[in-house]
Amino acid sequence: MSRGKKIYEGKAKILYAGPERGTYIQYFKDDATAFNNVKKAVIDGKGVLNNRISEFLLNQLNEMGIETHLIKRVNMREQLIKAVEIIPIEFVVRNIAAGSLSKRLGIPEGTQLKRPIIEYYYKDDALGDPLVTEEHIDINDWASMEEISIATDTSLRVNDFLIGLFRAVGIKLVDFKLEFGRIWKDDEKRVILADEISPDTCRLWDVKDERKLDKDRFRKDLGGLMEAYQEVAKRLGIMPEGTNIKEINTKISKNFKIKK
Ligand code: TMP
Ligand code: ASP
Repeated sequence: MSRGKKIYEGKAKILYAGPERGTYIQYFKDDATAFNNVKKAVIDGKGVLNNRISEFLLNQLNEMGIETHLIKRVNMREQLIKAVEIIPIEFVVRNIAAGSLSKRLGIPEGTQLKRPIIEYYYKDDALGDPLVTEEHIDINDWASMEEISIATDTSLRVNDFLIGLFRAVGIKLVDFKLEFGRIWKDDEKRVILADEISPDTCRLWDVKDERKLDKDRFRKDLGGLMEAYQEVAKRLGIMPEGTNIKEINTKISKNFKIKK
């Protein structure tokens, strides 16, 4: 499937024009960044794993009636997606205290919250993606209150579903980030799930020993990021035993030269 011109390059993905109007090709890079690009690395094969894991999770959500931008995965690094206009808000759902919640409010990491909560962050690198309220979103017209309401309800449904899906394979869903986009059809607008759901955008802990199976391994210099992501893929049943991601990555990398 041929991809068109580059439309946007983010920290972990690139968007290209798709083969038809209203479609994009989403390319998963191996780049890892944290703390708003302060910490950077290239982790061979990460993009391949995130592509697979996100494909699996978004397909499951599509099947249960939550519309997502995913049309299909086209190869090891790329997905064909519906072109949406991204709402510039990160919707973070939390079940257990960790990360910035623990830091900001002094809630010890690992504390079970009495109910899932949702937070909104304004997507703006220059401002460092600040935590914002619904009123900030409203007065800046980043999204309508109706869009926020739809995205919030959908985020909580996604949470219910993913908690069960991960729990079944011995993983606790601590928190995660979602993004939504607008799509128009016959003058009718819908708000659908976009971006990705992967160990880059979730905190996933082993149920037994609370071992981190997500990007915190990179943020906190714990090492073993690829092993952790492969473990998630294996437990979800999407990577056969014995798959060597590094080998696959070396084989396919010559087909995916990207201009820096
Ligand atoms: P936080 O505790 O650092 O605010 O992160 C909450 C969740 O959101 C965590 O699962 C990681 C995810 N996340 C992203 O996907 N992208 C980001 O830029 C940030 C800051 C967090
Ligand atoms: N993705 C964000 C960054 O690069 C932050 C994070 O995931 O921790 O900076």
